[in-house]
Amino acid sequence: QLHQKKYLCNGEMKEWNGKTEPVYSPVCIKRGDILERKLIGSYPVCTEAEAIEALNAAVAAYNHGRGEWPTMSVAKRIECVEKFTKKMLEQKDIVVKLIMWEIGKSYADSIKEFDRTVEYIYATIDALKDLDRQSSRFEIEQGIVAQVRRSPLGVVLCMGPFNYPLNETFTTLIPALIMGNTLLFKPPKHGTLLHYPLLQAFKECFPKGVVNTIYGRGHSIVPALMQSGKIDVLTLIGSSRVADQLKKLHPKVNRLRAILGLDAKNAAIITPKADLSLAVQETILGSLSFNGQRCTALKIIFIHHSLADRFIEQLNAAIAKLKFGMPWESGVSITPLPEPGKPAYLASLIEDAKANGAKVMNENGGKTVESFVYPAVLYPVNEKMKVYREEQFGPVVPVVPYYSLEEPVQYLIESTHGQQVSVFSNDPEEVASLIDPLVNQVSRVNINCQCQRGPDVFPFTGRKDSAEGTLSVHDALRSFSIRSLVATKLTDPNKQ
Ligand code: G3H
Repeated sequence: QLHQKKYLCNGEMKEWNGKTEPVYSPVCIKRGDILERKLIGSYPVCTEAEAIEALNAAVAAYNHGRGEWPTMSVAKRIECVEKFTKKMLEQKDIVVKLIMWEIGKSYADSIKEFDRTVEYIYATIDALKDLDRQSSRFEIEQGIVAQVRRSPLGVVLCMGPFNYPLNETFTTLIPALIMGNTLLFKPPKHGTLLHYPLLQAFKECFPKGVVNTIYGRGHSIVPALMQSGKIDVLTLIGSSRVADQLKKLHPKVNRLRAILGLDAKNAAIITPKADLSLAVQETILGSLSFNGQRCTALKIIFIHHSLADRFIEQLNAAIAKLKFGMPWESGVSITPLPEPGKPAYLASLIEDAKANGAKVMNENGGKTVESFVYPAVLYPVNEKMKVYREEQFGPVVPVVPYYSLEEPVQYLIESTHGQQVSVFSNDPEEVASLIDPLVNQVSRVNINCQCQRGPDVFPFTGRKDSAEGTLSVHDALRSFSIRSLVATKLTDPNKQ
C-alpha cells in the first residue's frame, strides 16, 4: 500500500497533515463473506487554499515570462526533460505496477503505456529541436528582417484522464513544460498514486515552482483556480460538460487557451463490400481494448443489414475467446473496471436498449461479476435507445443495421461528437465516395482499421464537442506556445 502524504509545491515536497482520500483498486478481495475493492493507498485532499498556493508558485516561477524557466534556452530545457526521463525510467517497475493496480489495465498494456509515454517524450524533444532550427532562421521581406520564434503562454493547468493516466497526462504536460510554461498538475482520481514515484524527479530536474501538483476532488479545488484568472492554458482530457463549466469560470475567457480532448462516439461503417473477418477483428480491438474505456474506442457499429447475422455470429465467437481475468495474468483482455458506478450505468444502458427492442446477442453479455462486466453485443440498436447517442465508455457494443450508406453518414452529421470513424470496404470507389462526407464530420477517417490515436506523430483532435486544439508530437508544441517575432527594419548604414 502506498499512503502518500506529500505533494510538490514551489520546489518542496510538502508534508501533508490534512484529510486523505483512500484509493481502492478495481481488483476485489474477500474479507470473510464480503467481497470488496482492495485498498491500495491514499493521497492528500488539497483544500482550496493549498491549491491556490500551488497556483501562486507556478505564477511566480513564470513571473510574466521573466522567470528562469521561460527564459531558459531551448537546449537547456531539453537537458532538464532528458534528465527527468532518465529518472522516470528508473521508476518504471513501480509506475507500471501502480497503473495496473489503480485502473485494472493489464500488466502488458501498462508496460505499453509507460513505454509509449517515454517514446512520446523523446519524439517531443526531437520535434522541438526541429522547431528550434526553423525558428533560428531569419526571413527578410520588404526591408524588414524577422526572426520568428515560439514563446510560452504562461501557467498551464493540466488534468489527465483515468484510462491513460500516465500517457495522456504526459502528452500535454511534457509539451507544455518543454515550451517554457509553468504547471499546475492534477492527476485523475483513478490514477493518482502512480504519479508519486515521479514527484522527486520533477523536483530534482526543474527549477522551483515550475511543476506543482494538487490532489483531491476536482470540483472543490479547480473552480477557485479558474476564477482566479491566473490560469493561461486549461488542458483537460475528459468530458465536454466539465470543460465547458470550467472555461466559463475564467474571468477573461477570451484570454484562456483551452487544449481539450473530450467526448467521442466513434462509429464503424461496415459495407457489403467489406472483408468481414477483418471488420470483426478490428471491431473487437476498437470496441473492447481496455474494456472499451478509450476515448478513441468504436462506440457504435453500423452494419449493412444483409451482413448483420454473419457479423454478429463472428463477433460473438471472437468475444467468447477473449480471456477474462486479473490484470497481471498473461493474455488477459477483460479486466476489472475502475469506476465503481460503471457496471450499474452499463446495465442501465442494456436494460434501456432491451426495453426498446434490442437483444443481448452473446452468451453472458453484460453479466457483472465483482467489478468485471462481460462484453455485451446489442442488436438491433435504434435511435430510441440511450446507447445510440451516449458514450458508454465500457464493454457494450451497439450494432445498428442500415439499408443505405446515407444512414450512418446522417448519424455523424447529427452527432454532437466528431472525433473519428472507421469504414470497412474493399471497393476503392465506395471508399472514395465516403471520404469527403465523413472527413467533414470527424477529424480522422480510418479505412479498414479501428479508430485510434496513434501513431502519436499524427494529429490528434476532433470536431464539434470532441476536442479543442490539436495534440500530436509536433502540434502539441505549437498548441502550448505562440509564434512571436523580432522584426528589425533594415537601415542603410551609409545614411548615418
Ligand atoms: O482515450 C484516448 C486515448 O488517447 C486513446 O489512445 O487510441 O492509442 O488507445 P489509443
